[in-house]
Amino acid sequence: MRIADTALLRCPTTGSPLRWQGTNLELMLADGSLTSSDGSQVWPVVDGLPQLCREAEVGAVDLRMRHIHDRLPRAHRPLLRLALPLLQGGGSEGALQQATREALHLDHLGPGARVLEVGVGEGGNLPWLVKALPAETELWGLDLSEVLLRRCRERWASHPFREQARLLLADAHRLPFADGSFDRVFHLGGLGRFQDPARVLAELVRITAPGGFAVVIGKRLDPREPAAPPVAAAFRLLTLWEPEVPFSSLGTPPGAASVEEQQVSRFFASLTIRKPA
Ligand SMILES: C[S@@+](CC[C@H](N)C(=O)[O-])C[C@H]1O[C@@H](n2cnc3c(N)ncnc32)[C@H](O)[C@@H]1O
Repeated sequence: MRIADTALLRCPTTGSPLRWQGTNLELMLADGSLTSSDGSQVWPVVDGLPQLCREAEVGAVDLRMRHIHDRLPRAHRPLLRLALPLLQGGGSEGALQQATREALHLDHLGPGARVLEVGVGEGGNLPWLVKALPAETELWGLDLSEVLLRRCRERWASHPFREQARLLLADAHRLPFADGSFDRVFHLGGLGRFQDPARVLAELVRITAPGGFAVVIGKRLDPREPAAPPVAAAFRLLTLWEPEVPFSSLGTPPGAASVEEQQVSRFFASLTIRKPA
């Protein structure tokens, strides 16, 4: 992350801008801290990664999911990419990306736009996003897992778009940005594994700019087709036997102009929220 990028950050506790102090590497953050305007909150920056959440404030569900995600083998994502079409009886990862692209209305973005992935993980979505986005788009990614963020950085270190990606450690329940900071905000995976799904959704919408879109792609077994027992079993495996939160139970987040739900494949559905211009 560049020093100039810290202007977008806000203290997750006080909501105030943050002041950077530390060592820089060619205008990039290295090691130091970000301090709230009143000086009461100090957030470390370790090896270039701002750490804008406190362990004691993270919910039990999020801690448990992080424990699981940190221990999944590296081969987990590529294997899932191969297995999904088989499990779903069709529908590839490419189709899911296409659905995400459409739900995010990426074609309407101008140069210099800002896009944030909440729960960026190892950055599996960054390559196709960079291809789909206009040049000079600021691409931000945050996650609760330092392990995954470091893997994300390692994995994409040699790619030309590494300059475009800004990574930080934060909790989706307390997004460290001012209202309306991003033209597009999205999460791919599902809200059911967060401590408080309605709060996460409200946060995604809060930091979306006027006229922008917040999108969640979550797991949902297509209600239009009765699932054969092996398909239903594959879906349970994908969701680790825990039911997903139905989008309808989350209501309309404050500040949303429209909310649209769409089944995008046999196992996934999208929720697209537009902010009024
Ligand atoms: C299903 S994975 C999706 C990873 C990535 N988006 C992808 O599609 O490859 C969900 C991600 O959300 C992250 N996550 C879980 N709880 C979080 C929280 N409270 N705040 C931020 N990220 C969280 C996990 O660490 C994980 O990387």
